Amino acid sequence: MDWTHLLNLEFPQLPLDAEDEAILKELARKLQDNYPYHSADYAGQMIKPPLPLAQAAHWMTSFINPNNHALDGGRATSALELETVAALGAMVGFSRPLGHLTSGGTTANLEALWVARQCDATTVVLANEHAHYTHSRMSEVLGVPFQSVPSIEDGSMNLIALETALKQLQKDEKRATIVVTLGTTGMGAVDALDDIVPLAIAYQARIHVDAAYGGYFILADLPLNTLRHFNAMAAADSVVIDPHKHGLQPYGCGAVLFKNPEEGRFYKHDSPYTYFTSDQLHLGEITLECSRAGAAAAALWATQQRLPYQRSGIFAQRLNDSLEAAKGLTNTLSGKGWWVLEPELDICIFSMQGAKASEISAHNSAFFKRKAKENLHLALFSLPQQNCPWELDWDVPSLTVVRSVLMKPEHNDATLWERIAQH
Ligand SMILES: Cc1ncc(COP(=O)(O)O)c(C=O)c1O
Repeated sequence: MDWTHLLNLEFPQLPLDAEDEAILKELARKLQDNYPYHSADYAGQMIKPPLPLAQAAHWMTSFINPNNHALDGGRATSALELETVAALGAMVGFSRPLGHLTSGGTTANLEALWVARQCDATTVVLANEHAHYTHSRMSEVLGVPFQSVPSIEDGSMNLIALETALKQLQKDEKRATIVVTLGTTGMGAVDALDDIVPLAIAYQARIHVDAAYGGYFILADLPLNTLRHFNAMAAADSVVIDPHKHGLQPYGCGAVLFKNPEEGRFYKHDSPYTYFTSDQLHLGEITLECSRAGAAAAALWATQQRLPYQRSGIFAQRLNDSLEAAKGLTNTLSGKGWWVLEPELDICIFSMQGAKASEISAHNSAFFKRKAKENLHLALFSLPQQNCPWELDWDVPSLTVVRSVLMKPEHNDATLWERIAQH
């Protein structure tokens, strides 16, 4: 495909000379030093290859290199970004969402917490102890008090502890921003959003949903008792979803959405350099980041054209494959005598059986290294005592367990589960 011709650019092909080509060859050689992320044998961290169409759209757009900060720098891609945000908003049930793409989940969460603080200067952030570390760190950046809420055994937020914290804040005449995680990074646990909404109403708290990892599962065939928490996203004040996790995008694509478009007023600022070309909204007027790649918006837009966000559509089927993969691996592991946690999404946690936490941890770590030598790549996780259902002697405070994120449809494969489960 001749991109430059399609884009009406002047040069017939990339003007690379022999020196450039030599450097690219050297780069290609250096890039070999990686795990096999595209293969099903990589089942470790939250990494999955982008859709080829997304890569092509990203690359094609990069020939123009638009900047979605202002319409000055990216008219076409700003319009595409608004379309992508509308699609994400419709998916979570926001009728008039205000939002934008970000470089990733961390910045998206920072913006959501910043808006929460702009809405109420007394706000205190409450988040599950298993929430992504970004929340305590970004609260520190913002100078907002942060309180960690204990979890129950399945890794979701303890709602009794949450209510106790809310009561105390009410006494102190402060309001909370409750960070609800739909799919924790470590265990894939789902906070009970549907039950948190009435608490937030009773205590006049704000709800921010960190669905950076799990958000797209609203389209999947989850058990109804899990799905209801995803469907409750419509009741939140803000939601973060990362298209560069389950949305098939190259890195550099997170998203933050606000239910109330009026909250865009907090971003208002003047720029002596930009915003003169049009009276229409420039995305830089509602973002904290200035320059942002228009190519990221183009890639997401193209992906949404091909794989629209529909329940039972092809995109949803890919997520269902991941859910089935997690169930399949769980059953295979149990059958072979492993201790396994029941997965809520597509993240599996398992451990060898044993007596002492220190010894079991050492065996799990050795297993992880052995599997890597077989080119089968898993991950490890420190499972705290309160989240561990197995009887053992706690001679160390946490248990190192094996973790596997089954994000790719290719993970839905019984041969792979057998290979993982083999001691
Ligand atoms: C639940 C959750 N929130 C936030 C983040 C941070 O997102 P990013 O790595 O895109 O900055 C992650 C990353 O794994 C995550 O799982």
